[in-house]
Amino acid sequence: MGTDKRHEIDPVLASEWLPIAYAHDIADQPIQVTILEERVVLFRTDDGIKAFKDLCIHRGAELSLGKVVNNCLVCPYHGWEYNQEGKCVKIPQQPARRVIPPKAKAVVFPCMERYGLVWVKLNKEETMASTLPEYEEFDDPSFKTVYANPHIINAAAPRVVENFLDVSHLAFVHEGSLGDSDHAEIPDYKVHWKDNRYVSDVIPVYADPDGTGKWSILNYTFEILRPLLARLKKVNEETNEIFSMLFAVQPQAERKSKIFALVSRNYDLETPDQYYIDFQQLIIDQDTAVVESQRPEELPLDLQAELHLPPDRVSIAYRRWLSELGVTYGSEVKKHKQMK
Ligand code: FES
Ligand code: CO
Repeated sequence: MGTDKRHEIDPVLASEWLPIAYAHDIADQPIQVTILEERVVLFRTDDGIKAFKDLCIHRGAELSLGKVVNNCLVCPYHGWEYNQEGKCVKIPQQPARRVIPPKAKAVVFPCMERYGLVWVKLNKEETMASTLPEYEEFDDPSFKTVYANPHIINAAAPRVVENFLDVSHLAFVHEGSLGDSDHAEIPDYKVHWKDNRYVSDVIPVYADPDGTGKWSILNYTFEILRPLLARLKKVNEETNEIFSMLFAVQPQAERKSKIFALVSRNYDLETPDQYYIDFQQLIIDQDTAVVESQRPEELPLDLQAELHLPPDRVSIAYRRWLSELGVTYGSEVKKHKQMK
């Protein structure tokens, strides 16, 4: 990759709605988020949150260093003002009557709020990925949902998603809470393509779901919703307690990601939310140590690479799907392609 050449954005991931921030973290000041190595500025207007390329067309300053005034984003360098559609509406150095050059525009990215998250698409084309998958628990009044702390991990996004989908590690990485190494065996299960995503059969796991000392058999179902979006449901059939999680990964750079997770439960509703946030942080810290250690850093999509066992069927489906979709970012396929 040349030093002054603009990097090429993965066209598949650029067409996905990617999680960029929790909506509650965007206040009066614009903020910068790097996603797929692209610097994006997010700012709040009366008409919702907007996302632009974080670059002023005048002299290339970062707009995120500026401020929001009357729903316009004001560049910190010479004060040009961009409205919500990205059009420059004021150049303070010229008389108001002079026409503003039509090229004076910011690059606007599609942006929306859903499930308390802000989602951005770096490519504007309408594709299959234009609708976000359903996460019913979010709007279901019998569930309470908390937001896990945003978590930076120095690993490729597909490695991070695969770890979330990996049922075999629970008994070891999360021994004493999500699993028990004396109950490590995983019964045979299959993964099915359903409408537009992969869904696993129910997998029974001996676990203490919330670290509260209540061990039982929980029925796990994994769903691979999109390349960097997955969900998990754990059901205690005896008590009808359901724990659900929506897991969304932001690829910042090829080996740097940020995890966002919605954690929902239909039980223990009076327990303070902070308990669940802290417990989730403990789990994610345990995963981080292992996932950052994995080599190769990028996820091998060639199924001949690494060794697969029947309990790895969710991972196998995930690798296969990334391969079919042609996701090259954070995957090993890219290296082979570049060498050809
Ligand atoms: Fe933004 Fe000059 S660089 S106004
Ligand atoms: Co884990």
